[in-house]
Amino acid sequence: MELFSVSGSLLASARSHFATLRARAHVPFSDRPRSVLLVLRDGRWIPGVRIESASYSLSISALGNAVTTAYSLRCFDAVAGILSSAPLSAADHAYLRALDGFSGAAPNSNGQAVTAYWRTSPPSQLGTVVDSARPVPASPEAGISAARNVATTAHVPESHFPVGAVLVHNNQIAIPGVNVEHPDWTRILCAERNALSTAYAYGYTHCTALYLSCPKAPNGSPCGACRQVLAERAPEATLYMDRHDAPMEQSTPAALLPAFFNSSDLISD
Ligand code: THU
Repeated sequence: MELFSVSGSLLASARSHFATLRARAHVPFSDRPRSVLLVLRDGRWIPGVRIESASYSLSISALGNAVTTAYSLRCFDAVAGILSSAPLSAADHAYLRALDGFSGAAPNSNGQAVTAYWRTSPPSQLGTVVDSARPVPASPEAGISAARNVATTAHVPESHFPVGAVLVHNNQIAIPGVNVEHPDWTRILCAERNALSTAYAYGYTHCTALYLSCPKAPNGSPCGACRQVLAERAPEATLYMDRHDAPMEQSTPAALLPAFFNSSDLISD
């Protein structure tokens, strides 16, 4: 993979975004607030931060967060490269190399405190963040219809089973999430956790509602991994599940996973 030279101005703005993103990572267990910027060819960028779960293996890396957000926001094809606040872990490096255009990915750190992996030449500077905010659905029915629409963006080469989620933050902003698949099935992220981690990366941490649609499954409901992470981060959010021709179903993450394992079992936060 070609080594590209990166402008000082791009690196300086990346460092300033990393400083902001540090505070958005949810890292009560490791205290390692990693962040990543996916840089688009036009200079716009998508943030990713590390989100830890009390069930450690469900933690979402900053890289995985940003890549899956790029699919939800329909811009993965426009990605020029990745800037990381720290060298990628071996697992993240393997994850990256399996993505289209990154098979030869090698760190291009230029001796700076930012690690870069490019698949096409980088823009000369960073522009604005890619907007992730969508209007809050005016009714539960509109939320389900939005989640159905979001599901059309799912990246599902393994299962051909699209899922769409729309997370509402503080009744003010809605964030989309789709399932994003990967040849390493342990790195597949569900739509619900994608929406949640995108919301965190953009600084929206108060999830008040989540709409979910599985267009191929009238009884679709969050998997065990999503129940765990949603119960930790948004136990009382209202969860609306698409039931296709039947009326939607309503629940909460805490109700779907009684007596869930949480961080108070590990640390007091
Ligand atoms: N999936 C979700 O996105 N959400 C769920 O709650 C159930 C499962 C996705 C993950 C994977 O891409 C596919 O559906 C099959 O498991």
